[in-house]
Amino acid sequence: MEFSHVSVMLAECIDALAIKPDGIYVDGTCGGAGHSSEIAKRLTTGRLIAIDRDPDAIAVATKRLAPYPQATVVHGEFADLPEILDDLGIDTVDGILLDLGVSSYQLDNEERGFSYHKDAPLDMRMSKSGRSAYDIVNEESAEELTRILREYGEERFAFAIAKNIVKRRQEHPIETTGQLVDLIRNTIPAAARREGGHPAKRTFQAIRIAVNSELDQLSRCLERAFDRLAPGGRFAILTFHSLEDRMVKQKFADMAKGCICPPDFPVCVCGRTAVVDLVTKKPILPSEEELSVNSRSKSAKLRVCQKK
Ligand SMILES: C[S@@+](CC[C@H](N)C(=O)[O-])C[C@H]1O[C@@H](n2cnc3c(N)ncnc32)[C@H](O)[C@@H]1O
Ligand SMILES: [Zn+2]
Repeated sequence: MEFSHVSVMLAECIDALAIKPDGIYVDGTCGGAGHSSEIAKRLTTGRLIAIDRDPDAIAVATKRLAPYPQATVVHGEFADLPEILDDLGIDTVDGILLDLGVSSYQLDNEERGFSYHKDAPLDMRMSKSGRSAYDIVNEESAEELTRILREYGEERFAFAIAKNIVKRRQEHPIETTGQLVDLIRNTIPAAARREGGHPAKRTFQAIRIAVNSELDQLSRCLERAFDRLAPGGRFAILTFHSLEDRMVKQKFADMAKGCICPPDFPVCVCGRTAVVDLVTKKPILPSEEELSVNSRSKSAKLRVCQKK
């Protein structure tokens, strides 16, 4: 299957990184190398480290970045950024880009089991290894399933869906995306089903986040990446739902915060200094034009900060 994915806010991301031809850049989610190719072609003596956890994406990115000797493709997770840089003998970098979530390739490739529009085995593993959606749906307790659907999907009917999953799987394991979609359809009341898009959207998002430890990956990266940014280095993150965006917004704001001593203290006792300047006070959103040609950009938000 052809790897097709239209890069979201491509020009905005490239602008956000303020690329220097001799700088070192990390694309932590290189996917089909859309953003990565644009970064690589702007480098002369610089370097691009293109990371993805999906072996299919790595195969495609390796091919697409072959014309650029500046690029090194790494199969790994962006939470391990410090270890990846250590292995390459790189201390600090001039920019990091994360374009979170799934690629259109992953969504459209039905055997990967990400899509509620296609009937396929329940899988959803970006890395094609570890626990799959099947394992979570068929093994987790009703309490844990409720938590997953509520926390990661903000699903109002989390408890009812979890209860029905547990009931159904006592008869037979839930094996396919289609079976899960039917169960969700039969659980959510008809009135609620008519609002808020596809009834399975929130559950599928939640299970995908759980399968791929997406929030944990993001939080570990946010904890560890700032130390590896050179002074003046940019950190640009594209998020696609409110849970991710909230984490990025709060972390960037926290890193941009200097002294927090009360104003009447004669000297600072908290010892805090700001680590970054916010480049975007409010997130950058896709243009009307992009929205009209790429529906996947609809929920995208780009936040950028710069190391002091
Ligand atoms: C939205 S796509 C990126 C598309 C890419 N920017 C482009 O323009 O072609 C997200 C990619 O990030 C990868 N990914 C998601 N979480 C990851 C993680 N924690 N570590 C490494 N790669 C990850 C996915 O496998 C997927 O290929
Ligand atoms: Zn202070």
